[in-house]
Amino acid sequence: MRTQVAIIGAGPAGLLLSHLLAAGGVDSVVVETRSEEYVAARIRAGILEHSSVELLESAGLGTRLRAEGDEHRGIYLQWPHERHHLDFVDLTGRSVWVYGQTEVQKDLIAARKAAGQEIHYEVSDVVLNEVESERPYVTFTDKSGNKQRLDASVIAGCDGSFGPSRAAVPAAQTYERVYPYSWFGILADVAPSTDELIYAWHPDGFALHSMRSATVSRLYLQVPNGTDPQSWSDDQIWDALATRLGHGQDGWKLNPGKITDRSVLPMRSYVQTPMRHGNLFLAGDAAHIVPPTGAKGLNLAIADVALLSKALIARVKENDPRLADGYSDAAQRRVWRCTHFSWWMTTMLHTSGDPFDAELQLSQLRWVASSQAGATGLAENYAGLPISY
Ligand code: FAD
Ligand code: PHB
Repeated sequence: MRTQVAIIGAGPAGLLLSHLLAAGGVDSVVVETRSEEYVAARIRAGILEHSSVELLESAGLGTRLRAEGDEHRGIYLQWPHERHHLDFVDLTGRSVWVYGQTEVQKDLIAARKAAGQEIHYEVSDVVLNEVESERPYVTFTDKSGNKQRLDASVIAGCDGSFGPSRAAVPAAQTYERVYPYSWFGILADVAPSTDELIYAWHPDGFALHSMRSATVSRLYLQVPNGTDPQSWSDDQIWDALATRLGHGQDGWKLNPGKITDRSVLPMRSYVQTPMRHGNLFLAGDAAHIVPPTGAKGLNLAIADVALLSKALIARVKENDPRLADGYSDAAQRRVWRCTHFSWWMTTMLHTSGDPFDAELQLSQLRWVASSQAGATGLAENYAGLPISY
């Protein structure tokens, strides 16, 4: 097989890249280890920042998002006895949208199918070859067990944090921070008890009330690393959420419901640089991981791909290498902004058990919630900086 861009991974980064490349007249083939059903059903991120929505719309992927997504003006920041609304629209003129990653993924799959995109699901033994040469290629075993070779001008590594692409950049510099807590996430068949997301600091640990639709809530609890999600009863989960989210505070109630999914997600920050080696380019989780507290993971993958698609179109179609040569530096600027913001939100909201840390966190929360400058800083980062930042 031969194509212009071989894309490894059919997550949001890989599928959006194939979509944007096609719009610019560049062919690609996508290879993915999982099945189409699996990638469409994975429950992950829930918030799209302003520029992600703009980009998806301009790429013709905004119809269902506008119809079924929910625009939010801001978030609530909370600690015991206090809940404050930060209005991002008033503060920065930018809003965010609640639209699950599963929905983004479904829209991307539908759009790529309609365009006849070649996607090989359920492949194995994916190997990147000769990425330093002008003739890189990917070898893999297809779903039927046949060995395949995919020749390309460029390989895009969009295979997340467990794929082979990041290791194909030799002598890369890596930065990592592992946090001493995880998120216990549940999905529940119950109307959200809030109109916008609540990020809550509590002495027992952080909690987040998010949502997927008018009938589905998504909630998270800070738990120790290694927590077995089956070790908590439904009642224990709802009780902890009620306590941390302030059930009873100013008459507010948390409505419990049927839990349909539960999982524990460890938290870490990771950055690899450069995001390019020869004719291999990395995008999304293949190059960086953020803890979910700032809702940045999916948005960062979209922003990488916005830059990379332009760079590869110029490179492959016009033989102009300038954007490709600048890709890693341009992407890293935003990556580090989001890495800092996600780390800051995480360390401000998760308890460590240390009373000095707790007082600093509460002081920081009070300042963010009461100062125009503090609130605007959070709002600008959360609603997202422009893609060109
Ligand atoms: P991915 O979505 O990981 O896609 C990579 C794709 O590559 C996958 O489909 C994978 O199967 C495929 N792949 C892997 N290895 C190979 C291979 N050898 N060959 C071919 N294909 C391969 N972010 C938030 O903001 N909020 C959240 O609540 C949140 N929850 C998350 C929960 C989990 C369990 C995880 C893992 C991430 C979560 N994230 C969250 C982060 C967010 O989902 C990611 O940042 C986003 O999915 C990045 O998109 P991506 O396309 O770069 O990577
Ligand atoms: C989610 O809805 O899954 C979600 C929302 C906001 C976050 C993280 C996850 O910061």
